[in-house]
Amino acid sequence: MAVREILRMGNPLLLQQAAAVDDPTSAEIRQLIADMYETMEAANGAGLAAPQVGVPLRLVIFAVEANPRYPEAETVPSTVLINPEIEVLDETREAGWEGCLSIPGMRGLVERPNHIRYRGVDQDRNPIDREATGFHARVVQHECDHLDGILYPFRIRDPRNFGFEDELFKPAAEN
Ligand code: NI
Repeated sequence: MAVREILRMGNPLLLQQAAAVDDPTSAEIRQLIADMYETMEAANGAGLAAPQVGVPLRLVIFAVEANPRYPEAETVPSTVLINPEIEVLDETREAGWEGCLSIPGMRGLVERPNHIRYRGVDQDRNPIDREATGFHARVVQHECDHLDGILYPFRIRDPRNFGFEDELFKPAAEN
């Protein structure tokens, strides 16, 4: 396993349309997934898409574990999602702050449908078919956007809701 370099916004590889994975069970894909997990964990991320490590394939991983320091935070099951498809079940949109390992230190307010169904396969070709709401739905949509070359800033309605995390969320007394 190895931590791979995460491409940052501005790199044209992040703007490409990724191709379907032919054989999710291949040794190359297994290695890619292992490296992506190590890379995501090293960077403390909630998700990572293959194009972010320079591999133009339709594969994402995501995981948000329960954290005793943030008992309110929603958990997201650790998932390898290959050749995903998203269906919006409710067009109602919700705004939420997003970040991205390809845009370190920044956050933006993005509106997304709050209720989706997503399908795909895992690395053993087991089908995945889930409904998701809230933060889980947001993480899946954010990661799958990477497969179509879309980064979250492209979806920010009001650019004033985009900035450095430590400025945006500075306690009022420090402003
Ligand atoms: Ni991202």
